[in-house]
Amino acid sequence: MLFKNLSLVTSDGIKKCDILVKNGKIAGIGKFSGNGIDFKGRTAIPSVIDMHVHCRDFEQSYKETVETATKAAISKGITGIVDMPNTVPPVNNREVFEERKKLFKEKSYCDYGINFSVTEDLKFFDGYKFIKIFLTETTGKLLFKGDLDRLFSYRKPIAIHSDIAGMKKCVKLSMKYGTKLHICHVSKKEEIKFLKKYKTHNITVEVTPHHLLLPEGAENVKPDLGTEEDRKALWRELGRTVDVIGSDHAPHTIEEKKKGAYGIPGIETFLPLCLDLAFRKKISFETLALLISENPSRIVSERKGFGIGKDADFTVVEDKEWIVDSRKFYSKSKFSPFDGMRLRGRIKTVILRGEIIYDGEKVKKIESREM
Ligand code: DOR
Ligand code: ZN
Ligand code: ZN
Repeated sequence: MLFKNLSLVTSDGIKKCDILVKNGKIAGIGKFSGNGIDFKGRTAIPSVIDMHVHCRDFEQSYKETVETATKAAISKGITGIVDMPNTVPPVNNREVFEERKKLFKEKSYCDYGINFSVTEDLKFFDGYKFIKIFLTETTGKLLFKGDLDRLFSYRKPIAIHSDIAGMKKCVKLSMKYGTKLHICHVSKKEEIKFLKKYKTHNITVEVTPHHLLLPEGAENVKPDLGTEEDRKALWRELGRTVDVIGSDHAPHTIEEKKKGAYGIPGIETFLPLCLDLAFRKKISFETLALLISENPSRIVSERKGFGIGKDADFTVVEDKEWIVDSRKFYSKSKFSPFDGMRLRGRIKTVILRGEIIYDGEKVKKIESREM
């Protein structure tokens, strides 16, 4: 299969080329003769991955399901997601983890990683590729009560939801053992200041679009939205101390939101907001490639990313304006602080492992794979 005339967004510039695909993998990058689909020079981003998605499902299927969340992801150009474990029941034992795996295998529209939450000491690791720990209370009851030093000593990659005190402890332990650490939704300038100084190559840092864009108090989220100073610190470090943008898609019903639930649906505004920033030159496409494609791909899966032998995942976009309308979301959570916003960058075609699974109108289900 041949995809012709793409302007591929990478961290070292935009490459105009064709892509040759064999068995769902990138087999060639360059100029190729022969028939193929002509993308007429449109912008394409390889392997867009959202590392922070609460798919809910199980007893909270009324909020969101794996099916609705991942369909929403594909419809807005995300080909891989990492699911969060604060479900009901929580993904903190082998039985629920296996159930979650089965659910994703059957229902997911995109490729996926499933987080396992360690709440006490972990005794076995087989099969748990993604581990998330909560060091402060948030939605769900998954506070880590085990021995943090021992957990880091296993040298398995760990993602954390934490306040600054917990983050400092984890950074120290990551240094002590050489354990890979992913710090979710950093939002305050103090955190950035600390990380600028102590971050190592084993540590990756994530921010959300809402912490970058929304003013203090605008939404009830955890961590809470920062001040203008906090936002400035996050912006300044994009592509430097900050490695990843993740949506923290946290669906709730309108009634739950009125009662004070933390979080907002973000999966369907994640790439659109990022593209808008790039088309309006508030961030370069090169930096964007790092934040939503290359860095998350490197963190989550050897199969993902851009290069020969990698999965042929591409999101083709057009520089056209459209208006955010949450009523049209695939997500069950139909509200958004970005409703009514005019954004530049429409998702035109989404390709997963060489197959077109979104054509600008309909999302198609193919076999999904664990990343
Ligand atoms: O705003 C949030 N919502 N922050 C979190 O850490 C959890 C999430 C949720 O699960 O609703
Ligand atoms: Zn969190
Ligand atoms: Zn979260």
